[in-house]
Amino acid sequence: MRDAALMPARVCIVEVGPRDGLQNEPSPVSAEVKVGLIERLIDAGVTYVEAASFDSPKWVPQMADGADVLARIGRREGVTLAALVPNMKGLEAALQAGVEEVAVFAAASETFSQKNINCSIDESLARFAPVIAAAREADVRVRGYVSCVLGCPFEGAIDPHAVARVARRLFEMGCYEISLGDTIGAGTPHKTKALIDACMESIPVTALAGHFHDTWGMAIANVAAALARGVATFDSSVSGIGGCPYSPGATGNVATEDVVYLCEGMGIETGIDLYKLADAGAFISQALKRETSSRVARAIEGKRHRETCGT
Ligand code: HMG
Ligand code: MG
Repeated sequence: MRDAALMPARVCIVEVGPRDGLQNEPSPVSAEVKVGLIERLIDAGVTYVEAASFDSPKWVPQMADGADVLARIGRREGVTLAALVPNMKGLEAALQAGVEEVAVFAAASETFSQKNINCSIDESLARFAPVIAAAREADVRVRGYVSCVLGCPFEGAIDPHAVARVARRLFEMGCYEISLGDTIGAGTPHKTKALIDACMESIPVTALAGHFHDTWGMAIANVAAALARGVATFDSSVSGIGGCPYSPGATGNVATEDVVYLCEGMGIETGIDLYKLADAGAFISQALKRETSSRVARAIEGKRHRETCGT
């Protein structure tokens, strides 16, 4: 039973594992593994996958094979495959690769903007304007990210109204949805609520998404807080993989398995099969030779083990 007036009946999961999850991996992850992961996510019922990033390979070498990954997957009925683009060059490559949506990414912190995309916030927005216009001209929808919404690795606390100003500019420039990125995973539910309320002064809640990293263990609590304000789209990463190369110390996104389990428990639909999703998580954890960061995936693993052993 849903328990609050604002709570959505259905949540859209934007699976960012193949991009946010893998972009920071120190060793190369093959296109074959990336495709294997995306195939399994789609099989589990995920309908939106951020599959690639078309930025400078000098800055993010792990994402250099985006066109190859997208070509191998091809178009899938009912599934949106999206990519990050920092500039016109990235957009051109993404369009050539046949993506259905792109995302531009700004920040609420000047220092992070410089470190991540080598320009100021204003310069980034000026750079994005023709990118957004050209994408829309090509019938490709554009999401907008704002990073460092609940803290910056270099500047510390960030004013929610500073976030709201950047979010509003992206929305007015034509981004259909603004994803609020807690890049360093420092947020708490109380701050999440204040942030969403500040953004809702100029953007409808239906155009806001939550993007929580889990560095301080608060990501799932922040998802719950955002749900209670009516947010119905969440970016998450299967197995909780990931981090940002330009955000020192930040860990992965909230695990998709944990978000799906939370939603199921609240009577909110996701359209995702939790057990198949856990299989996708096990696949990538094994490929990366790493334990899952998802508590739910660990519980499923334990349950399956007990069932096999008859204990
Ligand atoms: P720059 O060095 O200022 O760019 O970098 P430039 O325009 O001077 O170009 C330098 C070189 O890069 C040139 O090549 C360009 O051709 C090439 P050269 O002449 O030296 O051989 N280049 C490109 N190559 C391929 N594709 C492109 C491209 N653009 C330029 N699109 C730039 C500026 C934005 C390119 C760089 O800073 C960059 O690629 N940054 C990407 C950073 C990034 O991807 N960070 C991680 C994603 S953001 C994130 O994770 C946060 C998020 O998850 C939300 C959250 O958690 O908060 C979204
Ligand atoms: Mg992120």
